[in-house]
Amino acid sequence: MTDQPLFAHRHSHSAASPGAESTVSPARIVARDVRRNLPTWEELVPAGTPVELEVGSGKGLFLQQAAGANPHHFYLGLELAAKFANRAAQRLHRHGLSNALVLCADARVFLNQVVPSASVHAVHVYFPDPWWRNKHKKRRVLNEESIQHIWRVLLPGGNFHFWTDVLDYYEHVCQMVIDQTAFAGPHFVPQRHALHSMDYTTHFERRARQQNQPVYRALFVKPAGEETTDGA
Ligand SMILES: C[S@@+](CC[C@H](N)C(=O)[O-])C[C@H]1O[C@@H](n2cnc3c(N)ncnc32)[C@H](O)[C@@H]1O
Repeated sequence: MTDQPLFAHRHSHSAASPGAESTVSPARIVARDVRRNLPTWEELVPAGTPVELEVGSGKGLFLQQAAGANPHHFYLGLELAAKFANRAAQRLHRHGLSNALVLCADARVFLNQVVPSASVHAVHVYFPDPWWRNKHKKRRVLNEESIQHIWRVLLPGGNFHFWTDVLDYYEHVCQMVIDQTAFAGPHFVPQRHALHSMDYTTHFERRARQQNQPVYRALFVKPAGEETTDGA
């Protein structure tokens, strides 16, 4: 499999139209890999369209469902593992979604260097790896710096969604958010009844719920009058 994108799920790109997609074999779809060569924000997102960002998209179930349900929003997914980013890109291709794009990217770098301040309507982080062991903590996608960037990139009134099935980690991240930002929250998010076997927000939510594990869901909101872009 090549690192070069065969298909970029870009809003205004001609290859993104459902008709054009059908000529490319789904197995040959790969996500654009920007780990070494960062793009600009303007080349990725359609001007004038509300943007939602997902950090750690895995196999892309959230991007698929959200982009299908909200055709007037643009969804940008960031996934570090090429294997999963490709699976997510194939999923978006299969569903003919032109308002979602998944990149193979380190979300920490991407947030720091690509995403402009006050540019996104929502940031979604579902089931990030908790990396509890000391020597692995540096791999965490949610750390003090990335939380500051999530605060910075959200528009006033924007939402930060954070879900996990690890209670200690839930409490740890919520405390970091409270300590470092002026987000309102965490607000409680009720569990939605699944109407069919794939009716979950993400694959990890599906797995947790099918194993009867609790899921901890936090919604943080950037106050509407909050114009500051660099921290609380
Ligand atoms: C436990 S999985 C959860 C996947 C998906 N959100 C879900 O709920 O099904 C965490 C994902 O985050 C990705 N990830 C870890 N560090 C990342 C980073 N720095 N940037 C982007 N993705 C990252 C991993 O490769 C993995 O696919």
